[in-house]
Amino acid sequence: MFKVNKDYLKLPGSYLFSETGRRIREFEAAHPEKKVIRLSIGDVTQPLAPAIIEALHDAVDEMGHEETFRGYAPDLGYEFLRSTIAEHDYRARGCEIAPDEIFVSDGAKCDSGNIQEIFDKDNKIAVCDPVYPVYVDSNVMAGRAGTYDREKETWSNVIYMPCTSATNFAPELPRETPDMIYLCFPNNPTGAAVTKAQLARWVDYANQKGAVIIYDAAYEAYISQEDVPHSIYECEGARTCAIELRSFSKNAGFTGLRLGYTVVPKDLKVNDVSLHSLWARRHGTKYNGAPYIVQRAGEAVYSAKGEAQLKQQIAYYMKNAACILQGLRDAGYRVSGGVNAPYIWLETPKGMGSWQFFDELLENAGVAGTPGAGFGPNGEGYFRLTAFGSYENTVEAVRRIKEM
Ligand SMILES: Cc1ncc(COP(=O)(O)O)c(C=O)c1O
Repeated sequence: MFKVNKDYLKLPGSYLFSETGRRIREFEAAHPEKKVIRLSIGDVTQPLAPAIIEALHDAVDEMGHEETFRGYAPDLGYEFLRSTIAEHDYRARGCEIAPDEIFVSDGAKCDSGNIQEIFDKDNKIAVCDPVYPVYVDSNVMAGRAGTYDREKETWSNVIYMPCTSATNFAPELPRETPDMIYLCFPNNPTGAAVTKAQLARWVDYANQKGAVIIYDAAYEAYISQEDVPHSIYECEGARTCAIELRSFSKNAGFTGLRLGYTVVPKDLKVNDVSLHSLWARRHGTKYNGAPYIVQRAGEAVYSAKGEAQLKQQIAYYMKNAACILQGLRDAGYRVSGGVNAPYIWLETPKGMGSWQFFDELLENAGVAGTPGAGFGPNGEGYFRLTAFGSYENTVEAVRRIKEM
């Protein structure tokens, strides 16, 4: 008789978005006259920029002609895209990353879930709390997280690094030494960012302890402050301790198109075993590449037209973020994030539970957000709003919240 992977059975249900969805649907059914504004989604709403649409059309046409038709993509992704990434995302920022250290994929979610596969089961992971749930759940599936404590909502073999208002929602170096450290800045869900000096401390720490940092920079395009690094490779020494994950979802609206990449520097080794060759082996064996037309669309992100259009798109979302930040501050809320990220992290009033605040906001303002508790124990007492809605809806949502 076949047996299932028992580690999957340890996973608590993905409660957060099914539960918020259920509550929103129930509210809408009971109040059909009220239009609920969703500031809960982590998905973009603006259409693809014209430069990207043009590149897609051109690539589709190429696929229709024998001379320009493409079949399977090269293992690492097309050279035209990898060299463009190396130039624009790295060399232009003074980072030394070669095109063959870049692995093109269909997004950062898959990569952040899959990357743990090249590490031994005995490694101990450290995550921020609150956290993007994929890092923890993928390690649970791999049998690396230990046992789940339902009361504390924590795993026995995971080091949690609290990110609280006391540290501006940045983690402190953990007391217990981890082997794998997941960092995500600008952060989902808190919207917090770290300075280059802060990130450099983590790079030094990882090099000193022989740990690897898995750095998720999916929200890099939203950085507005000078001293916030766009890549971990801006920090000296990162080539020997860090893997970086990037996504085209939030900088260019590819959430439905799907494109991302992972950087594994060749200097990243343990006992002479190179993580680059392990990831290359894994990528070559289990993955057949992002579609040619999507990789051409990705290339257009870096064209002069593409860059200008996407700058406007980011500015559109960040205008929403500024509107939420200012509006909630005026209404007396304690808020953070929203400056280098499209997420606003607000403290629930009067110490209210985050699920209770979800209900109050829905019932009294017809606005949906995401309860902080869904991202980890230290998310309790907080609430996430996103800047990905339309400007009109965002202004209306803020008006309603102010009236509560
Ligand atoms: C921190 C973080 N990483 C990765 C992703 C997923 O990115 P992608 O769409 O490229 O899979 C998200 C999406 O919300 C995210 O918040």
